[in-house]
Parts: sequence; structure tokens; C-alpha cells
Amino acid sequence: MAQAPTTMDKIVALAKRRGFVFQGSDIYGGLAGTYDYGPLGVALNNNIKREWWKMFVDGREDMYGLDAAILMNEKVWEASGHTGAGFSDPLVECEKCKRRFRADHLQDREVCPDCKGKLGEERQFNLMFETQVGAQGNVRSYLRPETAQGIFVNFKNVVDSMSPKIPFGIAQIGKAFRNEIAPRDFLFRTREFEQMEIEYFIKEEDWERLFEVWREDIWKWIDHLGLKRENIKEFDVPANDLAHYSKRTIDFEYNYPGKGFDELLGFAYRTDHDLKSHMAASGEKLEYIEPDGTRFIPHVLEPSFGVGRAFTAILCEAYVEDEMGGETRTYLRLPAHLAPYRAAVSPLLKNKPELVAKAREIFSMLKKEFGNIAWDDNGNIGKRYRRQDEIGTPACITVDFETLEGETVDTVTVRDRDTGTQTRIKIADLSAHLRG
Ligand code: GAP
Repeated sequence: MAQAPTTMDKIVALAKRRGFVFQGSDIYGGLAGTYDYGPLGVALNNNIKREWWKMFVDGREDMYGLDAAILMNEKVWEASGHTGAGFSDPLVECEKCKRRFRADHLQDREVCPDCKGKLGEERQFNLMFETQVGAQGNVRSYLRPETAQGIFVNFKNVVDSMSPKIPFGIAQIGKAFRNEIAPRDFLFRTREFEQMEIEYFIKEEDWERLFEVWREDIWKWIDHLGLKRENIKEFDVPANDLAHYSKRTIDFEYNYPGKGFDELLGFAYRTDHDLKSHMAASGEKLEYIEPDGTRFIPHVLEPSFGVGRAFTAILCEAYVEDEMGGETRTYLRLPAHLAPYRAAVSPLLKNKPELVAKAREIFSMLKKEFGNIAWDDNGNIGKRYRRQDEIGTPACITVDFETLEGETVDTVTVRDRDTGTQTRIKIADLSAHLRG
């Protein structure tokens, strides 16, 4: 008997059906660990990144933006420790079916979970994708496995060009690549993903105090995404499990449906490991100089956010099945600042030119101001509401005959996604109403 779909199955199906996320290289059967964002997924992703930049860069005085190249000199990865064992996962191969597994994810490290064959010796598998730069094929490079190193190698450039006062941060959003042994759980563990990272440069003696300040800032971001605090848990990573560069790390975990708590984002105290290593390897002085001439290598706090994991958590949190007007409906209770569309505009009937003309006028006016406004005249009004609910559009604006004449002239109905209630609002007040 076929199993009933889980909530996660339903979310993944909705994401595909409504143009949020598609399997990468879909028409060729896909490529494991890759996903493509469709029209609504791009919109949600861009909203997440814009809100992050607003909160952590534009909203502060101590933050500087950066967009470094994905390909970097291979020496970067030698100095950072990524070419060594620190950035490897334990791999085992089945001697019979040749399938490979991440050893630390197996219950039984001796027996193949697929064919019950004998598993071979465990070895370390480096997660970086290697490539060659140029036509000679003798210059090795890697697709960056974290955006962070682009920040460390530009530390001196930013200090020299911007003269920041310590403590200060450098922020970057961009793609990262890891040849994960076992990509899994939709966008949770993919081979290509986006990170939003901050390296916050501090004096060593301030690390514990500023760690607490950043911890609170991360909670504010979680609130801003609309994730309920009860669905988030902090996990203090034990010393024997810390990344090779970290002295303390807290993973903020989200309670993914059907899976339970697992990492959403990481927050690490990276000490002066990276700047010190790059200074030794490059010979460049990666120091901060105080006005009185004191020199030191700053220490670093690193809040590191995965865009795909934020995207998944937001969809999970927003996914609701309820009953409205005697029917079950599925809708996304997305916060207005994250929803792909802020509002949809419709004429009550699409075969009445006077309604269509007025609705187009309102649509153009709002589109000029907000950008992310949908035009929807497909099917009847009930179907439009259901469709917009399913993609999380907070408001549906309808132009009806009352818009055109009588006491209600120049008013429209605005239907609220969550409650289904309809309110008559003056066209002149629409923009303020949507800004809420
Ligand atoms: N610079 C530090 C760093 O990269 P990390 O814990 O390895 O630390 C940070 O990664 C964040 O990047 C994770 O919390 C997660 O949100 C995201 N991330 C890491 N690997 C990922 C993967 N394979 N697929 C999707 N997101 C990933």
C-alpha cells in the first residue's frame, strides 16, 4: 500500500507545482544534490537575501559588503586547512555493489545498507570540487566550499580602503560548493548552495561579550523570518566535533517536519586561525593597527547562514492546511516582506472591459511602487484566491462594479489570505494598507 505523503513531501510537491524549486537538470533525470529555483523561488530567495543585507549590512554602521570571486588561488585552501583532513568526511565503499556511504551516518559500519555486502576500509573524502584554470591544465583551483575565505583574503584590502574601526564586520552573500557524499532532504544538504556570511573582526579579549551580542542578533533575524522560537534550538557543538578552525560553535537548529531539529545556521568563534594562517602563507601582514600604533591580528566571530536552509524552514513554518468555506485549503502563511507577491490584482469578471481597465490601472500603480504585484484574471474569483493562498500572497485586490459607481466608487475589496475576510478600501489608501 502506498504511504500517505508526509508534510515535507507535500511542501516539496507544492514547491515544484507552483514554480518555487525544481530538480536541477530535470529533463535529463536530474543531477543529485542540485536544485533550480523557479520564478517564485527566486523571488523568495531574493527577499531573504535582501532582508538579511538590510538587517546586517545597511542597518548597521560597522559592516562592509564584499563580493569575492568563487575561484581562488589554490594556496588559499592550503592555508585555510580545507585541502587537509579538516574538510573531509569519512567514506566507506561496499565491496559488492560499490555504493559509497558517509561512514558517520551508518548504524552499522561493517554491512552495506543496500545489498548487505561487506563494507571496505574507511577513508577520508575531501569535499572540495577541484578544477583547472586556463588552457594549459596545470593551474589547480577549487570551487569555494565556503564564502568566508574570500573575506579573509580581502581583509587587508578592506582595511586599507575603508579604514574601519574595530570591531567591524565584512559580509558576503554567494554560492558555495561541496561534493557531499550523501546529499539529502531537499535543499538541506545540496552540492551547490548559497551562504550569507559575516566575519566580525574583534579584539581577543572581547570575544565572549560580543559572542553574546551576536547570539541575540541571530535570534532577531530568526524572528524576522517568521520562525517560531519554539521551533528553534541552540546546540553547543562539543569540543571533539568542532570544525578545525573553531574554539566554540553554536548551531541554531530548526524543527523540520518529520525530521526533527537539525542545523539551520552556524555561529562560530574562529579565533585568529584564518588571518594568522593566511599571513604565514602569503607573507602579507594581516594586522589591525590601532591609532596609537599597536598592531595585532584580530580574532573573528562568524555567523554563517545558508540561504537554502532558511528557504526550507520558512516554507515549513508557513505551510498550513485548514478549512475555509467548507473546503480544505493549503496556504503559505508567509510574512509579507518575504512573500513572492505582496498582492494580486484582479477584475471581478475578465469579460467586462470597464472592470479590466480599472484593475489594470490599479495594477500599474501598485506595480510601479512595489514591483512584486501579480495580475491574476484566470478562472473564477474563488480559484484565484486558492491559487494566491497556495503561493502565500498576503492580499488579493478585486475591482468589482461597486468600484465604478455609487457611494463606493473608487474603492476595491481587499481579501486577507489568513482570515479570508474582505474589506472595502479606497484606492487612494491601498498603498498605505499594503505597507501596513
Ligand atoms: N564558513 C563557515 C561554514 O561554512 P558550515 O557550518 O559548514 O560553516 C554554514 O556552513 C551554513 O551553510 C550551514 O549552517 C548551512 O546553513 C549551510 N550549508 C552548509 N553546507 C550545506 C549544504 N551542503 N547544503 C546546504 N546548505 C549548507
